[in-house]
Amino acid sequence: MKLAGQVAIVTGGGTGIGRSCCLGLAREGAKVTVNYSRRQEQAEEVVREIEALGGSALAIRADVSKDAEARSLIDQTVAQWGRLDILINNAGWTQRTPHHELELLSEEMLDRTLAVNTKGPLYCCRAAIPFMQKQGEGYIVNVTSVAGFLGVGSSIIYAGSKAALSTITKSLARAFAPTIRVNAVAPGFVDTGFADWPREAIAIAEKESHLGRLVTVEDVASTILFLVTDGRGLTGEEILVDGGMVTLGNRR
Ligand SMILES: NC(=O)c1ccc[n+]([C@@H]2O[C@H](COP(=O)([O-])OP(=O)(O)OC[C@H]3O[C@@H](n4cnc5c(N)ncnc54)[C@H](OP(=O)(O)O)[C@@H]3O)[C@@H](O)[C@H]2O)c1
Repeated sequence: MKLAGQVAIVTGGGTGIGRSCCLGLAREGAKVTVNYSRRQEQAEEVVREIEALGGSALAIRADVSKDAEARSLIDQTVAQWGRLDILINNAGWTQRTPHHELELLSEEMLDRTLAVNTKGPLYCCRAAIPFMQKQGEGYIVNVTSVAGFLGVGSSIIYAGSKAALSTITKSLARAFAPTIRVNAVAPGFVDTGFADWPREAIAIAEKESHLGRLVTVEDVASTILFLVTDGRGLTGEEILVDGGMVTLGNRR
């Protein structure tokens, strides 16, 4: 087990990509805090799955878009397990809005998208980094999106919020090297129910993928796991897990 004795937090760990990260980290021996903000039952189910594997986990409610709650998430984790080695900033929020409908971008929607997707990871990093520095090492992975590369996706502000997180990843990697490695993983379309895409949009994404299938939660989680285990030469990096979407363009 590559992460025996280590402690990890996965924000939004109760569902989708986050759930798969929690299970992957636990299989490698890490103790895992499964964060959620609304879906407590799903987070507790992930805790039970980890315990059934013989691992240790804890579900903690915190809205990461609120600084005090992000700090409390980190503090409760350290109080429970005595240390913090890994932070996966996976929580995300969006509201599907056609990009040309600018008047539909309410102030509330703009604020919430930036608060959860951009400020949230920064709040969590700010609270976690002092503990990692004290220990002499730490690993952070931010979940961004192809939306931030291409200006596509569920809304203009969602793409912007993830592009901002990409550059924040680089800034943090610079600022806290060599003690803390900070990287990002940018998924392509993953069928988790995120953004509530209609089936037709999912079918088009599947057809356009160079893999002949959509990227899965396991594809994304295994890349995140690689970054915190074997990816020792990587910091400030952003790995696309998108079936070639950005690099190769659409399949013709
Ligand atoms: N699915 C895709 O196609 C895709 C593509 C690129 C990037 N991503 C990114 O991948 C990440 C995971 O998404 P997913 O596809 O796995 O969808 P998901 O299952 O809906 O996961 C989103 C998670 O974020 C949590 N969350 C939302 N607001 C939160 C807040 N304020 N505080 C704490 N947790 C919060 C949710 O927990 P609660 O329900 O408990 O609030 C949920 O567990 C997101 O950052 C998303 O932007 C997804």
